[in-house]
Amino acid sequence: MRKILWSPTLLSGRLSLLPEALKTFEEKGVDYLHVDVMDGHFVPNYALGTGFIRDLRDMCSLPLDIHLMIERPDMNLDRFDIRPGDIVSVHVESTPHIVRSLQQVRDRGARAFAALCPGTPAEALLPLGPYLDGVLCMSVNPGFAGQKILPGTERHISLIRAAMDHMGLENADLEVDGNVSFDNVSSLIRAGANMFVGGSASLFYAGASVAENVDRAREAVRAFVPDP
Ligand code: DX5
Ligand code: ZN
Repeated sequence: MRKILWSPTLLSGRLSLLPEALKTFEEKGVDYLHVDVMDGHFVPNYALGTGFIRDLRDMCSLPLDIHLMIERPDMNLDRFDIRPGDIVSVHVESTPHIVRSLQQVRDRGARAFAALCPGTPAEALLPLGPYLDGVLCMSVNPGFAGQKILPGTERHISLIRAAMDHMGLENADLEVDGNVSFDNVSSLIRAGANMFVGGSASLFYAGASVAENVDRAREAVRAFVPDP
């Protein structure tokens, strides 16, 4: 059984509450912090950048899960404070040089994930096996937090997992990003995913505290956690 991992997306939380939320994530031993970087070109929105990542390092010691929604990541990766143990996801649609981008991530000591938009076939991964530590599957159109999960997501996940198995990446992480909720996470696991971006429908659910949300998220996947 693959380990179930959670990665809260800082885009979905209120900035004023961030220091408190980071403290809770650290105390609760959450796996990563998901940082959405948007350039207004690859996606029609702007979000967190190099300065935010630099300042985050002073506030929290959890590894980062940096999701680059930018054009030509291979031209801009040097600008980011990427550290060993981080995950960096680069979109296959964002550059003609996806292999170079993945190599650059590993050169910085981080784990290289290829990200796929909802309409990108799983087959796009097939040439990338030797360069991949994991895959990020978008379950909404990238660019905005708080959307609804797209129909077809589970099918996409199962096709991606089959492609990963085909490449000998059975133990690599398959992360789902967009509207992962307490209710839908079990069916995403059954489809083949094991890592989840927690946003407005889970770790940043507004009806409860962040600590309660972390407990509820762990409870929602308990049936899939291997016995110690
Ligand atoms: C969307 C981002 C997601 C988003 C998910 O483009 O990549 O990480 O913030 O947040 P929720 O789950 O709140 O939609
Ligand atoms: Zn994201």
